[in-house]
Amino acid sequence: KRVAIFLSGGGSNMRALVEDMTGTAQEDHPARPCVVFSNQVEAGGIAWAKARGIPTEVVDHRPFAGDRAAFEQAISAALAPHAPDLICLAGFMRKLTGDFTDQWAGRMINIHPSLLPKYKGLHTHQRALDAGDRAHGCTVHEVTAALDDGPILGQASLQVGCEDTAETLAARVLKLEHQLYPAVLRRFAAGDRSLVQLNG
Ligand code: GRF
Repeated sequence: KRVAIFLSGGGSNMRALVEDMTGTAQEDHPARPCVVFSNQVEAGGIAWAKARGIPTEVVDHRPFAGDRAAFEQAISAALAPHAPDLICLAGFMRKLTGDFTDQWAGRMINIHPSLLPKYKGLHTHQRALDAGDRAHGCTVHEVTAALDDGPILGQASLQVGCEDTAETLAARVLKLEHQLYPAVLRRFAAGDRSLVQLNG
């Protein structure tokens, strides 16, 4: 399976996915990275992918001034030559419309830094702290038209300590993301949608 990875920032999840697909244990991996895509010209993840010889594409969302349909058409055009079978969203900070998610239904997954269905959207770590949650973590799910929704494929959880802040939680959860996302992609790309559960 050919995988396109979408990001908007540093791309540490993208790096974890690529390293799992191209590293020493790649022999039995059912997927390969075919392109790294970003809406941010300056995204650190784009420079990293280029340096690794992975094709990259950038479509800046700003000139589209809120015309999501035109932005998504430009994304599709940029992806086409790379012929992806699957899309992994990895810190991609633009909402996608139902037109795009329908085209990729069952073939696009996302990682989100909360134990969904809790805390869709932003500021998940602070919200978990504010709620006094004892457990927190991250989720990989299939992407549907609704934000941070869709069938759950995997979750990794940790215990919140009394000394934790939003910053320490973000760092602890991000480490779990780097374990969870590659584990889920391996199964998903092989057509296995059974739940992956990790404890950190
Ligand atoms: C991760 O926490 C991801 O779950 C969230 O954005 C962050 C991206 O980090 N949606 P990175 O770019 O993969 O380092």
